[in-house]
Amino acid sequence: MMAEVARPARYKYSTEELMEMVDLFNVSAEGQKAIREVLNREASVPNSMLFRYYNDRSKVVELEKQFCRKIGSKYALAVNSGTSALIAALVAAGVGPGDEVIVPAYTFFASVSAIVVAKAIPVVTEIDESLCLDPAAVEENITPRTKAIMVVHMQGHPAKMDALKDIAKKHNLWLIEDVAQACGGKYKGKYLGTWGDIGCTSFDAYKVIGTGEGGMVYTDNEWFYTRAQSYHDTAACWRPDRYASERKEGELFCGENYRLSEMAGAVGLAQMRKLDWINDSTRKIFHQLRDEIKLPACAKWVEPNDSEGVCGYRLGIIFDTVENAKKAINAEAGFGGLAGGGMQGARDWHFYWYWEHLMLQRTATSEGCPFKCPHVKDLPKYSEDMCPRTKDIMMRTVFTSIEPTDTPEWASSYAENVNEKFQKAFK
Ligand SMILES: Cc1ncc(COP(=O)(O)O)c(C=O)c1O
Repeated sequence: MMAEVARPARYKYSTEELMEMVDLFNVSAEGQKAIREVLNREASVPNSMLFRYYNDRSKVVELEKQFCRKIGSKYALAVNSGTSALIAALVAAGVGPGDEVIVPAYTFFASVSAIVVAKAIPVVTEIDESLCLDPAAVEENITPRTKAIMVVHMQGHPAKMDALKDIAKKHNLWLIEDVAQACGGKYKGKYLGTWGDIGCTSFDAYKVIGTGEGGMVYTDNEWFYTRAQSYHDTAACWRPDRYASERKEGELFCGENYRLSEMAGAVGLAQMRKLDWINDSTRKIFHQLRDEIKLPACAKWVEPNDSEGVCGYRLGIIFDTVENAKKAINAEAGFGGLAGGGMQGARDWHFYWYWEHLMLQRTATSEGCPFKCPHVKDLPKYSEDMCPRTKDIMMRTVFTSIEPTDTPEWASSYAENVNEKFQKAFK
């Protein structure tokens, strides 16, 4: 009999493959050489894992734990985008065919799309001048078919969570918070996403913290967590005991794959360490600019519902007319930003009047589900004029962006510059 030959250890990821990641960051040739040397020397760990389950060094699991500790939520599930977080949350709450979900007329279209993908009907509802859902308009839009309210904390601004929570309770509705644009923001001292039944955030490229693509579903409700976990993992394959049968009806069902990769998890952990610094820094400059910029008589600040809980990366001004808003963003006034208001005329997916997929009820197949689903009664009337107040507000609102690296000195010079230009433009 031949002597047994030891089987070589299996290295899934070689140094060269890991170097592709390093290359993303434009590291110099000497830098890359130094990193390659370290990886060659130390990184040859057999069976290193970029998959979150059965991985005792899982960065994704650690990210979930840290997120729970930070935000004060009992359960957190990392997923691969903010959109998938919203879909998993809706499914977890049992939202489906024939159900209506209230959603603001000013949000990124992903909030609406998630509702349609979850087979429910979006009921597009007016915002107020805080840029978030108007509680009175929410109440007006409730029907016997309403199952949930999806509140969105737009541009880092917290919505009126106490009023919305009361409405949800009164009408027995689930309250789902889309915190994609406000990770780490608070309302009355409590983190956004923990006021309602489920919070969902995004870690995509433009968000407060990012993992390239990614998101988080968080809740105190164990059953919602279990169902979100099932849905995000194809068929609940990797539950704590993957071989166990269904513990309770509603745990096992056909799902999708929204699992977050370990590479994104590692980036997320590092980003979490900066969350407070990012929000504290932008909030400070947000307040400084509000103190130092002198608004013309025809303008007012977008007033956050909680000025201490705002994320602070976006400062908004509401003008009395569209013409004055345009004047403010033109070169003369010098106040504008990437996320200018609705008057800029770009086909911007944050404004409901550009949501033609919804207006025309465009769906992936010609059967038109869920809009034409037999469970649906009295579809809302979708049109460019369905939320005139939102359109009016957003056509008169302009924004400027604040970065966490902005300094008080920069802010003072920016404010001075804007003051001069406003004085000229609005004399
Ligand atoms: C309000 C809102 N909801 C949901 C999303 C979707 O997040 P993601 O891009 O991570 O899918 C976004 C992203 O821009 C957003 O701004």
